[in-house]
Amino acid sequence: MAATPCLGVAYYPEQWPRERWEIDAELMAQAGLRLVRVGEFAWARLEPRPGEFELDWLEEAIDVIAARELEVIVGTPTAAPPAWLVERHPEILPVRADGRVQQFGHRRHYCPNVPSMRDATEGIVAALADRFGDDERVVAWQIDNELSGRCYCGICRVAFHAWLRERYGSVGALNDAWGTIFWSQVYEDWSQIPLPEGSPVPAEGFLRNSPNPGLALDFRRFSSESLIGFLRLQAGILRGRCAPRQRITHNLMGFHFPEIDYRALAEELDIVSWDNYPVLDLTRRWSTKALAADAMRGLKNAPVWVLEQQVGPLGWELLRTPRRGETRLYTFQAIAHGAEAVCYFRWRTARFGTEQYWHGVLDANGRVGRRYEEVCAVAAELESQRERLAGARPHADVALLHDYDSRFALQVQPTNPVLAYEETVQKHYESLRRLGLGIDVVSPQAVLSAYRVVVAPELFVIDDAIAGALAAYVESGGTLVLAPRTGVKDRWNAVPERPAPAWLDELAGLEVVDYMSLAEDTAARITGVDGVSFIGEVHGWYEEVELHGGRATAVYADGAFAGSPAVVEHTVGAGRCVYLCGAASVPTLQAFYRLLCGELGLTLLDLPDGVEAVRLDANGDDLLFLLNHGDVESAVDLGERTVTLEPLGVALVEALSPAGSGRG
Ligand code: GAL
Ligand code: ZN
Repeated sequence: MAATPCLGVAYYPEQWPRERWEIDAELMAQAGLRLVRVGEFAWARLEPRPGEFELDWLEEAIDVIAARELEVIVGTPTAAPPAWLVERHPEILPVRADGRVQQFGHRRHYCPNVPSMRDATEGIVAALADRFGDDERVVAWQIDNELSGRCYCGICRVAFHAWLRERYGSVGALNDAWGTIFWSQVYEDWSQIPLPEGSPVPAEGFLRNSPNPGLALDFRRFSSESLIGFLRLQAGILRGRCAPRQRITHNLMGFHFPEIDYRALAEELDIVSWDNYPVLDLTRRWSTKALAADAMRGLKNAPVWVLEQQVGPLGWELLRTPRRGETRLYTFQAIAHGAEAVCYFRWRTARFGTEQYWHGVLDANGRVGRRYEEVCAVAAELESQRERLAGARPHADVALLHDYDSRFALQVQPTNPVLAYEETVQKHYESLRRLGLGIDVVSPQAVLSAYRVVVAPELFVIDDAIAGALAAYVESGGTLVLAPRTGVKDRWNAVPERPAPAWLDELAGLEVVDYMSLAEDTAARITGVDGVSFIGEVHGWYEEVELHGGRATAVYADGAFAGSPAVVEHTVGAGRCVYLCGAASVPTLQAFYRLLCGELGLTLLDLPDGVEAVRLDANGDDLLFLLNHGDVESAVDLGERTVTLEPLGVALVEALSPAGSGRG
């Protein structure tokens, strides 16, 4: 596939009469699309009876599509197990946390650990691979669709026990790690270990079920690994039978999807893909989509594909319509953040099924209209920028650490709404982005030395190895920002016998000695000291620290800890560690980062509200994507010139040399 960005679409030929395929392929080609995904969900048509494969129709569809020079992605259909499979093997149906079996009649009605499901999966995936694994027209495979779900069936329970045995070796070691002496939960045998929330107490019951934190974290890891294992099963078959140039991918669900450790999942893929439904975000913050894009790129630190992008009104029961111009805006936003392909979902609005109102490029009646014209215009515009964008990569001075163990552990014990992991990460992300800074969202295990600033917003679960890597980063000249609730838990979700931030206390030059957990809107003001001009606010959660080498650059002006440190800096080796003691709002964080990054000499922009700026390194050129997410015209002051953007407007300009560097 082309290394310059291109557009594509999801197509379901099995849902339309054969004689329509030519018209569709022709319209796609005329629109300037280059990629078409097929096959996903078509299991009942590809294997109508056990072991009887009917792949000719798919090959014919590929003939029709490829005849117009469109390239094909084949999806494996395992997200929709057919009725015959469920009838023969009812045990594939997943069990929900409340013990109810999910029935046939929707999709994703399978447990990834059940042997009969895995056998049937091997059959259909091998058949597809044998047929299309050498097909020049097929450039990639998408495994399944948006993996998700936790299963509580008996097979998962036994598999969980085996997983625990592998991890802990002995029941005694598990008892110690989880601290099962608490409430007499000591186990004698693996088989006694329950699934957390497996039998919740009913709403009218007496006590709600709040499982052992070690058990709850491990079950989240196990469930994540179960889905990844199911993907690995398919990836293994494809790798064994397909030409290596066919890339293996899966469509992930962006940053906010909470169930799977996407970093581990990405290791199984050749390229990360994701699905982008921007209008589903009711907050309408542009940072939601930007963060999703950067988090997906950060999984492999490489370009991604958007395999589904909203193109029309959508919803299963209730609809929301994108505004005119949003398709263009979100397409270029994805490309700015590192997408090599953006495929619209879906080609034609379905006539039948749950997604009748999930509007495609064409209407259900098959006619072209406004959305088709918008797509044609975007494709033409992209074509005109092809050379400029070839090989362009987002520029990043900042690494924002995204840690799945911390995220999972905070799901178990959220502690205070202001500490919600996703929102905390997003607040730091948005504050940095509003200054025009480029960000890679990466795991704490990533190589950090190239970044000027590393931000670890809520590294709740930690161990000494990660702490050591962060200390080495600081010693060699990096700037590390830590925020409240860092180093609170060890890998077993137990509280370490060390002061918080555990393993990082020396690096931060402080110890947390007390904290306030208050209503979300309870604020404490903070002000700079020692000549630092800074004022801000923290909400809901703030910590009292004792300094051990660190120096306060701001103190609480009021609240329970009035007069004590609120921001602490500690110089270590050639770098420094900065600890924020309270949960800060976006304006406060923005002011904080403006000061900090200004001191470091990073190029900062003064961006109007609603305008996003993404810097690209484009083969020696420095480009800047400006994206106006607002409904009003906006002027962006780039120092030597001003760029005016219409509502929802997009501009690709040469970035100025850092004349505006450190402004602010
Ligand atoms: C996505 C999914 C698609 C389609 C779309 C609209 O999440 O991957 O198959 O269902 O949502 O519901
Ligand atoms: Zn199961």
